[in-house]
This record gives sequence, structure tokens and C-alpha cells, in this order.
Amino acid sequence: MTSLSCSATISAASSQLSRRILFPYSNATHLHRLFHSRSPFRVGIKCSYAESSGIKDATAGPIDVVADIKTEKIVVLGGSGFVGTAICKAAISKGIEVTSVSRSGRPKYSGSWVDQVSWVTGDVFYVNWDELLAGATAVVSTLGGFGSEEQMKRINGEANILAVNAAKNFGIPKFILISVHDYNLPSFLLTPGYFTGKRKAESEVLSKYPSSGVVLRPGFIYGKRLVDGYVIPLDLLGEPLEKFLLAIENFTKPLNSLPASDVLLAPPVSVDDVAFAVVNAIRNDDFFGVFTIEQIREAAAAAKV
Ligand SMILES: NC(=O)c1ccc[n+]([C@@H]2O[C@H](COP(=O)([O-])OP(=O)(O)OC[C@H]3O[C@@H](n4cnc5c(N)ncnc54)[C@H](OP(=O)(O)O)[C@@H]3O)[C@@H](O)[C@H]2O)c1
Repeated sequence: MTSLSCSATISAASSQLSRRILFPYSNATHLHRLFHSRSPFRVGIKCSYAESSGIKDATAGPIDVVADIKTEKIVVLGGSGFVGTAICKAAISKGIEVTSVSRSGRPKYSGSWVDQVSWVTGDVFYVNWDELLAGATAVVSTLGGFGSEEQMKRINGEANILAVNAAKNFGIPKFILISVHDYNLPSFLLTPGYFTGKRKAESEVLSKYPSSGVVLRPGFIYGKRLVDGYVIPLDLLGEPLEKFLLAIENFTKPLNSLPASDVLLAPPVSVDDVAFAVVNAIRNDDFFGVFTIEQIREAAAAAKV
């Protein structure tokens, strides 16, 4: 006689935990979503096979089969930049397939994760979207930057709007935009191309992806920034400042209603937290909408588990 016993384990711990933290729901809903969610999760199946006839067969030992099903594939626009590389690295660490596109292509970082990313060299205004987006389950845009008024409108606004529409037309189910905190600035100070571009891009994400689009609004992002081969340790300033501002948060809260107060009071956020908040967003259907600095930190903590 032959016996075959199988047990299946579902390991979606980090993604489910993050949902629970950000979006509490009942156990029934939890189970329903676990099994019906579009978000991929890993299924590990262990099977043991044994002959009970008493005849020993050297080839008939227990069989352990672990099926590791990876179905997430992201395209990071600007994956070679400061925030982009952190997103690529975090995604790879969680078993997500990553393609990056930027004009400079592969960055000068070392580490095994670098070889696991597909580095595409291209300008978002001219890329072949059909080729780039084939098989992707989400697009993450880090496109943005400073320059002349026209340049800022173009890269923060137009480039992202183009990308959102390309992703939507291609049928990509999720779009994640790295935007920026408004620093509590009065609206007349939010007019420069940087902010107007960002807000137009945000509107495009939220209108084209009303129930899955994600907009992260970090303030100052710290970490180790690579500029022309040199490492700029922004964390030396950013990390202690973040800790200090979080420690005095209860005292400074009454000042939050003052215009522009967040220029001084918005806590910096680490580039890894932004990256892991993105990972959380990639893996969770329930993660959509606009996320503040504090919510980015919470989402990252849940995804790192
Ligand atoms: N750093 C911060 O403190 C901070 C704070 C709040 C918000 N943000 C936002 O976060 C995002 C990322 O910031 P970052 O500091 O990581 O910027 P970054 O280092 O300059 O990265 C921007 C990336 O976009 C790529 N890119 C620019 N134009 C492109 C084009 N036409 N086609 C393809 N790729 C293009 C760049 O690569 P190539 O130049 O090689 O093309 C680079 O990989 C930005 O949207 C920024 O506004 C940053």
C-alpha cells in the first residue's frame, strides 16, 4: 500500500500583517482576501511519500517539494536613482522580480541584488512601453527632480502622467508614485513646477487607479546617496533629526496648523522605509490612496516583518 501525505503552508505573513495594521478587518474577511486576493503569496507544499509494503527501496525516500510561486513583477521608473535603487533592492529581498528603466541604466552599486535587477537603458518619453511592461504586475515611478520651471513640470508632471496612462492602457493593475509632502505650505507657495507637477501626477494616478493607485508623500528622504561615484551619507543628518522630531512630536503638534511649519517639523524618513512601504503597496490590494510620512513609516515596518 502506498501513502501520500501532504501539508500546505501559506506564508504571506508580512503582507497580511501590514493589511491588519493599516486596514483592520474581521477574520472571515481576512481569510477570504487571503485566498481571493490578486496579491500573490507563496505557497509551500510539503509532500511525504512512503511505501508500506515493508520492502525498502533506496529511491523511495520521503519527497519534500517546496513550491515557491513568484508572480510579482515590477517596473521601477528611475530605478537607478537614490530612492529607485532602494526600492529595487527591497523588492528583490522580498522575491519580487524587478525591471528598472532610466537613461543611465545600471547604476554603480555593488551587491548580489544588483545582478538580479533587469536594468533597461531608456528615456520614459521614448521607451517602448509594450516591451517594458510585458508581464508586470505593478509600475513604481520615482521620476521627479529639480531644474528650470519647464524641466520640473516635465519630469514631475508630464513624465509621470505619460507613465500612468501607458500602464493603464497596458492593463497594469497597480501604479505607485513617489510624490512629496506639501510641508504645510500655503497654496501660493506650492505653485513652482515641482509641486504643480507632482500634484498633477498624483491626480492622474488617483483618477486612473481609483481603487489601487498609491501616492507616497515623503518629506526629506535620508540614506546613503551615490553621486558621481561618491557616497553622500545623508543618514548622518537625517536619522538623528528624524528621531529628535518624533520624540518632540507631542509638543510640536499644536504648531502643525501654522503655515509652512512642516518645513521645520516634518520628520525625515529613511530611504529604506520608503522602499519597504512600496513593497507593502505592491503586495497588498488594500493598500491604495495617499500616504503621509507617518503612514509610510508604518507601512514599512509592517512589510519588513
Ligand atoms: N530625495 C528626497 O529627499 C525626496 C524627497 C521627497 C520626494 N522625493 C521624490 O522621490 C523621487 C525620487 O527621488 P530621488 O532622490 O531618488 O531622485 P533621483 O536620484 O534623481 O532619481 C531619479 C531617477 O529618475 C531617472 N530619470 C530621470 N529622468 C528620466 C527620464 N526622462 N527617463 C527615464 N528615467 C529618468 C533618473 O535616472 P537618469 O537620470 O539616468 O535617467 C533616476 O534614476 C522623485 O520623484 C523626488 O521628487 C525625493
